[in-house]
Amino acid sequence: MKEKIIVVSLKHFVSVENLGETEVMALLKRAQEFKAGKQLELSQPVYAVNMFFENSTRTHTSFEMAESKLGLKELAFNPAQSSVNKGESLYDTLLTMDALGVDLAVIRHSKDNYYQELIDLKADQHLNLGIINAGDGSGQHPSQCLLDMLTIYEEFGHFAGLKVAIIGDITNSRVAKSNMQLLTRLGAEVYFSGPKYWYSHEFDSYGQYLDVDELLPKMDVVMLLRVQHERHAGDQNEAGFSAAAYHEKYGLNQARYAKLKPQAIIMHPGPINRDVEWASELVEADKSRFYQQMQNGVFIRMAMIEAVMRGRKLGGLN
Ligand code: CP
Repeated sequence: MKEKIIVVSLKHFVSVENLGETEVMALLKRAQEFKAGKQLELSQPVYAVNMFFENSTRTHTSFEMAESKLGLKELAFNPAQSSVNKGESLYDTLLTMDALGVDLAVIRHSKDNYYQELIDLKADQHLNLGIINAGDGSGQHPSQCLLDMLTIYEEFGHFAGLKVAIIGDITNSRVAKSNMQLLTRLGAEVYFSGPKYWYSHEFDSYGQYLDVDELLPKMDVVMLLRVQHERHAGDQNEAGFSAAAYHEKYGLNQARYAKLKPQAIIMHPGPINRDVEWASELVEADKSRFYQQMQNGVFIRMAMIEAVMRGRKLGGLN
């Protein structure tokens, strides 16, 4: 019997919270098709703008690459030279993009849930472009989460029963939050480790906290998180932070690497603080999937953009 093809179609792509297993698997399969060279034929132009109000290398450039591969027309936007610096609100900035003819806006912003006011419109608001969330504060990072799922799926071919560790600065990590939600929904077992002061009991419903040396030898997937110093304003642990002490207590070093399961893989969303979360000489070791994660980012973002183009019937897609 022929496999039923599910087409994902969304007005906006801001979170993984409302994605079911079927939609996730459809996005992963579509990304794999794009990775194998699948091309989209657009019958009308689609205009996209990438609005990064926080720094980014991977997400920004891979959204640009994804847009280019899909045949979208990309408009440049530099927040530092924009009228945001004259006090223009995010909503008015997006209203401007809409008026100019932009169809899709990919946005990264330091404010948690910044996108809510752009999609829950009041009766007198007429903003009508698709929002794709490229990371909101410590909230969600759907494209990183889905590229991580693709990397795990490529490796193991399933999620059910996989033991996945999320280690590090969990409280401040949008990657951790998106990943713990989706991994548990897909049937994986999530475990946590790292400094207790960057762990919150709100995560207990997703998985168990264990000491890093007890945890690592049992894991199929080890996700290391960046220590996010830029989000530690007012955090008393920041002043006493020692990179060497963190590496000693929680970092993936040679001794810990040697105790991993033979088939285990190591992931990191990047950017890496080398010799803090991960010993520098192990970043490209056999079990590392850091490079594959970045590669997969292009193809999963193509699938995400396509889903919003279909949801809005852009480019002649439906
Ligand atoms: N993983 C990630 O979001 O990296 P960038 O900040 O470089 O986009």
